[in-house]
Amino acid sequence: MKNKKILITGGAGYIGSHTAKELRLAGYEPYVIDNFSTGHEWAIKWGDYNRVDLLEKEAVTNVLKKIKPIAIIHFAASSLVSESFKNPMAYFHNNVKGTLNLLDAMRGAGIDKIIFSSSCAIYGIPNECPISDNHKINPVSPYGETKYIIEKMLKWLAEADNLKYVSLRYFNAAGADPDKELGEAHKFETHLIPLAIGAALGKRKSLDIFGTDYPTKDGTAVRDYVHVKDLAIAHLNALEYLLEGGECHNINLGTGIGYSVREIVEEVNKISNGRVVFYEKDRRVGDPPILVADYKNAKTILNWSPIYSELNYIIKTAFEWEKCNKL
Ligand code: UFG
Repeated sequence: MKNKKILITGGAGYIGSHTAKELRLAGYEPYVIDNFSTGHEWAIKWGDYNRVDLLEKEAVTNVLKKIKPIAIIHFAASSLVSESFKNPMAYFHNNVKGTLNLLDAMRGAGIDKIIFSSSCAIYGIPNECPISDNHKINPVSPYGETKYIIEKMLKWLAEADNLKYVSLRYFNAAGADPDKELGEAHKFETHLIPLAIGAALGKRKSLDIFGTDYPTKDGTAVRDYVHVKDLAIAHLNALEYLLEGGECHNINLGTGIGYSVREIVEEVNKISNGRVVFYEKDRRVGDPPILVADYKNAKTILNWSPIYSELNYIIKTAFEWEKCNKL
């Protein structure tokens, strides 16, 4: 039988677990490695897994040699902009050194295809919106910097070796598995949509709105929210693109539509039939005013367009999930 094994680093996390499900549905055999610092064992339902930290190089090498995947999808990373300002060293270790160990181990095991979780955080404060994939790169946080360093590592390694990569630059991942098997479940939640829904459900008393003086339609920051199932499908498309001999690319994944924080709160109110109590606070450090994607390359190269990312559907699936999320 043809080898269909795909190694997913960070496959116990939010986007990784949804991607593992999508791969399984398409006939692949996902194998997860995760250090479970933020991911959950219950989120791995579509294949085997091993507790491995990317900082333990020997363990990474051993697992690649044992599993012999045909490609790697690399999610494992520290991923909070505000936390990265407080502890940049942890971000350089976990993200840059962890990825370097993985790339070394891949080379040793003869694996030459990788899909990397990059981020719109590499653009910093954009000069123009929507942001195209060749917009100037200028990260304004240690987190964004680590993602950019890794993109550059991939570029140079691909030029020197026969490594093939696709870096997927996510805008704001949101929503939950429509079958309610998976969803956003962070032990320490910082993201707008689950926090607003938590406030609507009475799990928390209120929501803080960070910044009401941005140069936007209503003074609050604007983001491009893309459904996590659409992101998972994009990984599947990127995988098949590389397996068919595709070339290396950096690709934005978003919808081209931006919503303000107040618009998100309004939509949560509508779906929950409630009223989120909120307080207007100062801006959060490192938050750009507007981030909206031009996803042209995703369309032409990966044959991808968002299908599940209508705001109403994002909030509805996130709301259904949050009702049963015990965290
Ligand atoms: N926000 C609030 N109140 C909250 C939480 C968030 O007003 O309690 C605001 C933020 O200031 C921001 C927007 O809601 O303007 C969205 O914030 P999130 O924390 O949900 O998402 P971010 O845009 O900060 O982060 C996401 C990803 C990161 C990625 C980043 C790029 O989680 O991995 O987008 O900017 F790097």
